[in-house]
Amino acid sequence: MATHKLLLLPGDGIGPEVMAQVETVVSWFEKRGLAGFAIEKGLVGGCAYDAHKQAISEGDMKLAQDADAVLFGAVGGPKWADVPYQHRPEAGLLRLRKDLGLFANLRPAICYPALASASSLKPEVVEGLDILIVRELTGGVYFGEPKEIVTLEDGSKRGVDTQVYTTPEIDRICRVAFELARTRRNKVSSAEKHNVMKTGVLWKQTVTALHAKDYSDVELEHVLADNCAMQLVRWPKQYDVIVTDNLFGDILSDVAAMLTGSLGMLPSASLGAEDAATGKRKALYEPVHGSAPDIAGKGLANPIAMIGSFAMALRYSFGAIEAADRLEGAIADVLGSGTRTKDIAAPGTNAVSTSEMGAAIVKALEARG
Ligand code: IPM
Ligand code: MG
Repeated sequence: MATHKLLLLPGDGIGPEVMAQVETVVSWFEKRGLAGFAIEKGLVGGCAYDAHKQAISEGDMKLAQDADAVLFGAVGGPKWADVPYQHRPEAGLLRLRKDLGLFANLRPAICYPALASASSLKPEVVEGLDILIVRELTGGVYFGEPKEIVTLEDGSKRGVDTQVYTTPEIDRICRVAFELARTRRNKVSSAEKHNVMKTGVLWKQTVTALHAKDYSDVELEHVLADNCAMQLVRWPKQYDVIVTDNLFGDILSDVAAMLTGSLGMLPSASLGAEDAATGKRKALYEPVHGSAPDIAGKGLANPIAMIGSFAMALRYSFGAIEAADRLEGAIADVLGSGTRTKDIAAPGTNAVSTSEMGAAIVKALEARG
């Protein structure tokens, strides 16, 4: 049995609580002899700043470079509101994404039938929803230079962020979207703002050319990013795969997440390019939700997005498709049986704690034989 090198970076806030539930799931797979893991743990975000005065240490970056997959919890919180900008908790995550070359961020938004009523939209709008946002993750306004605040001659200041994309960057993320669409409902919606942005014009041209050259079997549509946000809350089931840039992807994926009932439900995968020699991709898996400092340490957090992120690692990094199906099936079983953490419980009904939800998922894994 292959041993997979896994680096756990629980981070701040609810990160450690939800990661602890992944550890119980990992132990179950090991105990059953279904998979073997060599696990390392590290610090990222505010806790790393407290320990090392930087948002991720060189040692932990090295562990991340060597890992087959990184599992990331969440970073940030009011405690670190005043740390220098380059050391803020989010800088740890951005460095991991950039240094590991994780350009492809896969953010599925699936509405479990049992949760259609937890969404703020009407059940018929979200029931059975299954869309995938493919967000470009290492370019655009997040990393473009110059990125600065300068003082002008009259003493006023000017803040600058730079939105920049090259054709290879657009090409490789759109390729990922087309390939994934072929395994789903075969439709890609490309979201940009070519009506106001040069990067949008280039994005549209590049995806159109790639489509004609290699993916004409896939349906392609172009949608302006603001319209896409509106369509997502109007009738989200029109979408299959949405491909978009870093900033639009950040926003659209939060909208998509909420359609499913709770931010606590959604996993994500961030993948690098395939290594030509080994066929492996660097990868980081994280829940879409943040560190939720307001509920940290209270056992209220929903661990499903974190556990679902581990399921994505099984699928995309370890090729353990059966194990991934089993884990995702166990999550659906638990939801089907009515078990709910507070974020997805109907008002006035009973909710279980973070660890009770984790235990219920392990029990459901066991029950699947
Ligand atoms: C996300 C988050 C991050 C982002 C933050 C924490 C830097 O919102 O992963 O969506 O903006 O990419
Ligand atoms: Mg975000």
